[in-house]
Amino acid sequence: MTTRRLVLTRSAAIVGAASTGLLLPQIARAQSGKVRVGLMLPYTGTYAQLGVAIENGVRMAIDEKGGKLGGREIEWFKVDDESEPSKGVENANKLVQRDKVDVLIGTVHSGVQMGIQKVARESGVLSLIPNAGVHAATRALCAPNVFRTSFTNSQPTLALGKPMVDRGHKKAVWITWKYAAGDDALEGFKESYTKAGGTIIKELGLPFPNVEFQALLTEIASLKPDAVACFFAGAGAAKFIRDYAAAGLKGRIPLYGSGFLTEGVLEAAGPAAEGIITTLHYSDSLDTPRNKQFRLAYAKTFRLQPDVYAVQGYDTGQLLVQGATVVKGNLNNKQALYKALESAVIDSPRGKWTMSKSHNPIQDMYLRVVEKGENKVIGIAAKALADSGAGCKMA
Ligand code: BEZ
Repeated sequence: MTTRRLVLTRSAAIVGAASTGLLLPQIARAQSGKVRVGLMLPYTGTYAQLGVAIENGVRMAIDEKGGKLGGREIEWFKVDDESEPSKGVENANKLVQRDKVDVLIGTVHSGVQMGIQKVARESGVLSLIPNAGVHAATRALCAPNVFRTSFTNSQPTLALGKPMVDRGHKKAVWITWKYAAGDDALEGFKESYTKAGGTIIKELGLPFPNVEFQALLTEIASLKPDAVACFFAGAGAAKFIRDYAAAGLKGRIPLYGSGFLTEGVLEAAGPAAEGIITTLHYSDSLDTPRNKQFRLAYAKTFRLQPDVYAVQGYDTGQLLVQGATVVKGNLNNKQALYKALESAVIDSPRGKWTMSKSHNPIQDMYLRVVEKGENKVIGIAAKALADSGAGCKMA
């Protein structure tokens, strides 16, 4: 926005506010000239660590480009969504209605994302999804103002079935938390595993974020499958890995998973995680200058090792910087902004990726194994994998 237009907008807002007594948040917004960025992430509960990693990544990407968006300073707003779906709409509205953010970055949990999606579709606020892979967000409920920088829940598992069958595991048990992320992950696993000639002999589940795995592990032992495949993440994933070993299943029935199983949890899971094979769009050991530089910088800044969540946050920051630069900080120039986001090429630590028509990354899936406390790449399980985007009609 030019200085002159900004001045006019401000005067109009002040006149309006004076006559109605309303619009105070808008005045404050225009006067400060800052871009209002809302973070709606879990900072408590089983996904707390994921929320922190995403925020770190977002901030790092923006700081690397001077800490501004299209030349404008940033004002940050934060809400802890607790991974609680029943508060999803209310929490999103705290940022959109109360704080009047220009962009809402969030969240991790697919159920909570559905609340954000509703608010994003109704308000038109720019919504950047840094993790939650719920299919609907970039399929039937896709929207011009919603962009995902992470994955759909079935992308990793669409790449998982074949490597399992290639290793001779033709009878598998599937186990997950029963919510959208687990259901969507199963959709991808079913498709890839059965297509490769495998049979899922049992689907097991428990409610999120329950971690009482014992009865289900006993059932797995009695079913005697060739392998187990699963979706778990965060602190619950670390416990599942430890319980799996403690139940005597490690070494007897190979454990596979959507790669979130072993992301950010390897220290907590300890030796029980060694040998687990997963598929994901990132690996610690990607031997590229881009990944090495990112990992060094992240470790130096936060005194933590980055994981896939940090990468997704980082790419969210990169996308936002790119879009804001094109529109010179005027995020109200929606047509130009969306065009810039749609055509962005993100030079990610995971490898370069682009947006699909339904606003989800087209990206490689890596086959990884946990070795000496690290997710090591052992192959590419799928090249330039795009989600189907089924049912997406951009308004
Ligand atoms: C999800 O709910 O979509 C999700 C949560 C953690 C990791 C991956 C996906």
